[in-house]
Amino acid sequence: MESAGQAWDSIAQQFGTHYAAVSSRKDWQDDEYYETGRREWENSIKPWLPEPAWLGIDLGCGDGRIAFAATPPDSGIGLYCVDSSEEMCLEFGRQAELRGDPLPRRATRISTPEELIQHLATQAGNIDFAYCKSVFIHIPRRIAFGYTQAIQALLRPGGRFIFDYCNLRHKTYVNSLKQTTASIVKGDNPIRLNPGMEYYLPEEWDFVLNEFGWKIIHHAVGERNLVVVEKP
Ligand SMILES: C[S@@+](CC[C@H](N)C(=O)[O-])C[C@H]1O[C@@H](n2cnc3c(N)ncnc32)[C@H](O)[C@@H]1O
Repeated sequence: MESAGQAWDSIAQQFGTHYAAVSSRKDWQDDEYYETGRREWENSIKPWLPEPAWLGIDLGCGDGRIAFAATPPDSGIGLYCVDSSEEMCLEFGRQAELRGDPLPRRATRISTPEELIQHLATQAGNIDFAYCKSVFIHIPRRIAFGYTQAIQALLRPGGRFIFDYCNLRHKTYVNSLKQTTASIVKGDNPIRLNPGMEYYLPEEWDFVLNEFGWKIIHHAVGERNLVVVEKP
């Protein structure tokens, strides 16, 4: 079975960008999803940043819509952008050009917590914050949990990690789980149909984050849950 990274590559190749279903991609200014990206930054990430917050990581940056919203040239924020899909990394570069972005930017391909640690080894202990939006749905939980440990190793004390996950207790995802498993029983390749199908229990995250030594600052429980944790 192909990996989630390969699945994203083929989706990106097929549609130009994985958001093609909801976005015309002709111009980010008219792009509903770009606006969503900006809203994600303004509403759910920015309010939770630690002080100071000069150096960050966008884990699973996709085409960069949140990253570009987060780091206008005058922000002074340095952001390492990483993604497992080569196609999405290329799209990130294309979007930077398309927007006439004055900063020389690119996204780096990494697929595992170990690669993330290696990529940012020289910055270990210096990073103020990391965020990860709409990514943990696509990766096996052992990798997601591994990423939280890798991020912890890279953050400074008091640094924060902000991420979301899909709540298995919510009816949307219980129903999706039923459909996905039914398609597996029929012999379909579910990761090809939909690379997003990893749902989590809130108490599972509470347990894991506590075990890993994070301080839980915020854990909003609903459909897509936002979690903010701090490195002690
Ligand atoms: C739904 S997109 C979200 C992109 C971006 N965070 C946003 O909200 O616009 C999910 C992204 O996660 C990336 N991804 C999937 N598996 C990953 C992994 N193991 N490590 C890093 N990124 C991954 C995909 O390539 C894709 O770009």
